[in-house]
Amino acid sequence: MYQKEVWVALKAARAGAAVVRQAFGTNLDTRFKSDANPVTDIDHAAEEHALNVIHNHFPDDSVLAEESGGAAWESGRVWLVDSLDGTVNFIHAVPHVSVSVALWCDGRPAAAVVIDVMRGEELTASKGGGVFSGSNPIAVSTQLELSHSLIATGFAYDRNVHGRAYADNMGHVLTRAQGIRRLGSSALDFGWVAAGRYEGYWEFGLQPWDAAAGILLVTEAGGRVTNHLGGAFQLGDSGVVASNGWIHDDLLAAVQIAPPDHIK
Ligand code: IPD
Ligand code: CA
Ligand code: CA
Repeated sequence: MYQKEVWVALKAARAGAAVVRQAFGTNLDTRFKSDANPVTDIDHAAEEHALNVIHNHFPDDSVLAEESGGAAWESGRVWLVDSLDGTVNFIHAVPHVSVSVALWCDGRPAAAVVIDVMRGEELTASKGGGVFSGSNPIAVSTQLELSHSLIATGFAYDRNVHGRAYADNMGHVLTRAQGIRRLGSSALDFGWVAAGRYEGYWEFGLQPWDAAAGILLVTEAGGRVTNHLGGAFQLGDSGVVASNGWIHDDLLAAVQIAPPDHIK
C-alpha cells in the first residue's frame, strides 16, 4: 500500500535535497525566526522544490510545511515536509542535514522518506510495508540494556530559556546509557534508531514536521514511539521517546525523573 505515495515522497525529498546539497558550504544569508531559530533562503527554496513535486502528483492533498505552514494534520491526507532538517548544521557546514517528507492520512502516518543529504542515504517506509535504506530492509537494534545503548537527543529553539532544565533532564539519561549524541537533525535521529545505530532518541518540543516521517521509520523497523509519559505519541505532543522497544521502559523511566518544568 501507498507505493505511489512513497515514490512521490522520494521524488519530493530528492528535489529538496538537491537544492540543499548544491548550496552546502556556500555563503548563506541567515535570518532568525525567533531568538535561536535561524532560517536561510535555502530552507525556503528546498521547500518550494519539494512542495512542487507533491502538488504536481497530488493536487488535492493538503500540506503542512515548516516554512510555508499549511493544514492541520489531524484529518484527511496531509503531507508534512521539513526540507532542511538541521539548519544550524547547514549554516556551519556540518554535513549532517536531512530532508523529511511524510504523508499522514486521518491522523496516522502512511508513507515516509528521510534523505541524509550529504551521505546520500535514503530511508523509506510505508504503513505495513517495512522500512528500507535504499533497497535494503532495516530494523532496530536488539540491544536489551540501556547501559549498553547509544541514545540521541536534541533541543528545541527555546533552549536559551530552558537549557538548564534540558541539561538536567539529559543528565539522568547520561548516567544510565552508554553514551548520548546530539547531532542536530531530528529526522536522522529517528532514522538512525530505525537503522539500529541508536537504541533510542528523546526530545522535547518537536514540531509536527520534525517527527512525521521519523515515527513511521521507527515503528516499521520494529521499534516503539511514545510520548514522554509513555502514552501513544500524537504529533504536537511536548515530548517524544523512540526506541528499539527493548530499552523503551528504562529510557522512559530515566527521562521521567526530571522532566523540564515547562513540559506538560
Ligand atoms: C531542528 C533539528 C534539531 C532539533 C530541533 C529541530 P530544524 O530542526 O531537527 O535536531 O533538536 O528541535 O527544530 O530547525 O533544523 O529544521
Ligand atoms: Ca526540523
Ligand atoms: Ca527545517
